[in-house]
Amino acid sequence: MKVLRTVTNLQAHVEALKAAGHKVGLVPTMGALHDGHLSLVKAAVGNGDAVVASVFVNPTQFNNPNDLATYPRKEADDFRLLEAAGVDAVFAPSVEEVYPDGLRRATEEHVFDLGDVAEVMEGKFRPGHFQGVALIVSKLFRMVAPDRAYFGEKDFQQIAVIRRMAKTEGLDVEIVSCPICRAADGLALSSRNALLTEGQRAAAPEIYRTLARSVEHSQGHSVAATKDSVVEHLNARPFMRVEYFEIVDGYSLRAVEDWGDSDYIVGCITVYCGDVRLIDNITYRRPADA
Ligand code: PAJ
Repeated sequence: MKVLRTVTNLQAHVEALKAAGHKVGLVPTMGALHDGHLSLVKAAVGNGDAVVASVFVNPTQFNNPNDLATYPRKEADDFRLLEAAGVDAVFAPSVEEVYPDGLRRATEEHVFDLGDVAEVMEGKFRPGHFQGVALIVSKLFRMVAPDRAYFGEKDFQQIAVIRRMAKTEGLDVEIVSCPICRAADGLALSSRNALLTEGQRAAAPEIYRTLARSVEHSQGHSVAATKDSVVEHLNARPFMRVEYFEIVDGYSLRAVEDWGDSDYIVGCITVYCGDVRLIDNITYRRPADA
């Protein structure tokens, strides 16, 4: 596996892959890799792509400086895992390489038109976050010009925002969404799980258990009642504070009022477990082609 630190070397490597007839699959990450990230690599390898992964803790998407400062970094372990998973090349640049004119200049230069999907939920509670995600992902799409790019449904809203960004920026990349990987106890795998204390880690699986139970509860209860029961249940648990729980149309991300409003309905949640911000989601209804 090649480790590439500069845009020039990345582009030269990708050109060589394409010249050799490969389809290129991009897997963007911020490192501290776990099986969730590796499932994206597996999907790309399974599609026959030459896989380029990126490991870059992108400062422009962190609205909270403490979150950026405490974000786990494990580069050597990450490279070992990516190589074992069959990645062809990893792009692991410095902040200066990606943002040579500085962070402020980069974020002020271009405001992405991300539409309504970026306004709700994470967009509301993390101002600027999706502009930063759109900025780094658009840069990666332009540098690599991949045939496909792989993203996890754990960050359900992020996928909708990236689809929108690719469309409005005219970037022709097939976006492949991959299912959420969970620990055996149901907790969605996340780099931030490493920040949980032992007690918090023991409490955190209640998030998924509550969401899973709410799917049963939804039969015979209104959307509003289902929402309230999730929030009330979790807020009564140790360490937990629900930031938001929204039951939305899976395409537009607009809140649904009735189970009959859409054939694609997803519940998206963010919960603070102590100081650690965890996100998860559950599908209530899903059409075969979504
Ligand atoms: P990061 O949080 O490192 O996640 C990288 C990719 O792995 C994302 O597409 C995310 O949805 C996916 N992922 C994380 N946990 C997962 C899980 N448990 N199951 C399945 N997929 C999972 O998301 C980002 O980084 C950044 O915003 C990024 C897109 C790299 C831009 O900086």
